[in-house]
Amino acid sequence: MAKIFITGQIEKVGIHLLNKHRIEVSVNDSPHPLSRGNIKEVFGNFDGIISMTGDRIDDEVIKAASSGFKIISNYATGFDNIDVLAAKRKGIVVASTPGVAAQSVAEHAIMLILACLKRMVEADRYVRAGKYSRWDPKLFESWQIWGKTIGIVGLGHIGSYVGNIAFSGFKMKILYHDINKSPDFEMLTEARQVSLEALLRDSDIVSMNLPLTDKTRHMIGRNELRLMKETAVIVNTGRGATIDEDALIWALKEKVVRGAGLDVFEDEFNISHELKTLGNVVLTPHIASATIEAREAMSKLAAQNVIDVFEGREPEGIVKVE
Ligand code: GLV
Repeated sequence: MAKIFITGQIEKVGIHLLNKHRIEVSVNDSPHPLSRGNIKEVFGNFDGIISMTGDRIDDEVIKAASSGFKIISNYATGFDNIDVLAAKRKGIVVASTPGVAAQSVAEHAIMLILACLKRMVEADRYVRAGKYSRWDPKLFESWQIWGKTIGIVGLGHIGSYVGNIAFSGFKMKILYHDINKSPDFEMLTEARQVSLEALLRDSDIVSMNLPLTDKTRHMIGRNELRLMKETAVIVNTGRGATIDEDALIWALKEKVVRGAGLDVFEDEFNISHELKTLGNVVLTPHIASATIEAREAMSKLAAQNVIDVFEGREPEGIVKVE
């Protein structure tokens, strides 16, 4: 009987599915992530792992894998926490859960856009602090998003949903920057594919929806932020390091841009103190895919990826390396 270890508490539906396929499951029941040493032990003692996006699975961890170790199934859309090449060298399959959380993450991106432009967090704090004592027509003047231009950087599943909501819900003009052209998306949303420079120059809202790779790391730095409108906001629900965070802090402090909404950070568990002191940024703790619906779908797919490998099939969520 194959034995797998799950490093965090996933929705039960995936565990039931694994049990049904006679795969023995152990789960990290503690609220804390596994230590590096514990992750190595899992690689040495189990046949597969369902890992969380915060688990760093590098070459050294992968080298600790037993000869029977077959699959790293990441409970995430992304897989930048895994050294996929090292896994391939060891003959270990890497899979993730692409697509199934896309609607939820896109909703979160739209929520961050609205929160930034409607000054939602500032206004909430103001009321709670007991400062609301009279109605004032100038109080918390904010900005409409209806009819504005949104630039989507990275047109995968999530970026496409962001575009669809923006177009059908808010009649926004859609620009996108991606290595691939998407005629279907263009037809549905009247979107135009443009260079990154043109997108930054012409957008009122920039939505970052990129995975983290060598090519996307620090794609947005000081020069790119300088291209943006002073009235623009930027939101990131992809990976933190696609934006140079020091450059973003500079841009927010100097009012080079109006605001930012961030669900992801360069150093996830050690978020810059300066960022937390700024009023024109909305911060959430990497929860864009944390809806029950998305988590259940991720749980099923992460489990199915494991089952497929043990039953000799290529999993739907396989990560292919060039
Ligand atoms: C979360 O960021 C994910 O990749 O699912």
